[in-house]
Amino acid sequence: MAMAGSAIGLGNIWRFPYMVGQYGGAVFIVVYLTACIFLSLPILLSESIIGRSTQSGTFGAMEKLAPGTAWKWLGLLTVFSPLIILSFYSVVGGWSIEYLWQSVTSGFGDDVSTLFGSFISAPWGALACHTIFLALTAIIVLAGVKSGIEKFNKVSLPVLFILIIVIMVYSLNLPGASSGVSYMLKPDFSKLTPSVVAAAMGQSFFSLSLGVGTILTYSSYMKKSDNILTTGLGSAGFDLLFALLAGFAIMPAVFAAGIEPGAGPGLIFETLPFIFAKMGAAAPVVSRIVSILFFVTIVIAALTSSISMCEVGVAYLVEEKGMSRLKATLLIFAGTWTLGTLCSLSFGPLSEVHLFGDTIFDFCDKLTSNYLMTFGSLLFVLFVGWKMDRAAVCREFTNNGTLRANSFLFGLLYFLIRYIAPVVILIIFVTSL
Ligand code: PHE
Repeated sequence: MAMAGSAIGLGNIWRFPYMVGQYGGAVFIVVYLTACIFLSLPILLSESIIGRSTQSGTFGAMEKLAPGTAWKWLGLLTVFSPLIILSFYSVVGGWSIEYLWQSVTSGFGDDVSTLFGSFISAPWGALACHTIFLALTAIIVLAGVKSGIEKFNKVSLPVLFILIIVIMVYSLNLPGASSGVSYMLKPDFSKLTPSVVAAAMGQSFFSLSLGVGTILTYSSYMKKSDNILTTGLGSAGFDLLFALLAGFAIMPAVFAAGIEPGAGPGLIFETLPFIFAKMGAAAPVVSRIVSILFFVTIVIAALTSSISMCEVGVAYLVEEKGMSRLKATLLIFAGTWTLGTLCSLSFGPLSEVHLFGDTIFDFCDKLTSNYLMTFGSLLFVLFVGWKMDRAAVCREFTNNGTLRANSFLFGLLYFLIRYIAPVVILIIFVTSL
């Protein structure tokens, strides 16, 4: 549940639909599914094998398995990447808070088409919400993540599933929804380019929290009797299912509302209010309740992911640099708030500032999901495939040979980890560069 909780977040609800829209619809989904099965799953299992066999986080794991080597840099990479993700993630978390506020105070009416544009280009509201989201993250990290958040996650994730299905059914029945369905189901292979492949791979890494040590750290808490394969399959399966549900909830409504599918990061914030406003015309109370519940759960799902990103940096400063937890949290807050503020302003006053052709927000997003997470994932599979002893990897994956299905699949998995994953990641990485 915890691993699925880290995976499921804004990546599924917010990022997946707009990536589908920006990278050609169904063709992106086909590549995405392929990447999830043949690349992301082996990477996820590699991180799990390292984590559970050492029972420590990235730093400690490298210290145990490859003491005194340059692999410690992988530990450092996994401290910085999640913090860059956290900076722009909290901007989107802030948007969700603003929309929750709107649901509570007035609901969504006729102005839905201009709502998002006016919200992000008038920077103070967006900045305030970004600050609130990040402060909530920091407060929870400071207080400790243990029982409250974990318990809440167990309730909020099923609720989120139910709500997304409700919205999907509603959205599929809107007039004009069928073009959205064909957009999701009929691949146009003429749109297949290296950047589509790179984006799909990046999205699958982002969605499964790969290459940044989160899965490794969570796996270090697994029992020796737990099954790495079924845990990994379960998390990846739920994550994939959730992304597809979100896609089928959003895309038909995008077409029904006449919104441009390639609209980018604002896509769901333009589409969801449209759905709620339509729903509201027929059943105002139901629409209000559904929209409040929906944005509450989005904020919670986002928080459970943002906490895991923040915790990595805080734990590093406390354990390796001897800082107090309070000081470490404040430092991380200050750093991510500053970068996040630049990301937030890149939708308004800083929209003309470009880094390598992208706005600051898009640059941070691409830097992490297309490069840093990719690089981290590459290093994890190389570590398991080439640095660790094959017999040790097999023992960990099969619980000392006691799991028959795992023993049967090990040869295939090892082949994917050792040869296929590194080569494919490298090819896609270099081509997209
Ligand atoms: N997987 C999370 C999501 O889909 C994002 C995330 C990335 C979480 C990296 C932790 C680490 O929202």
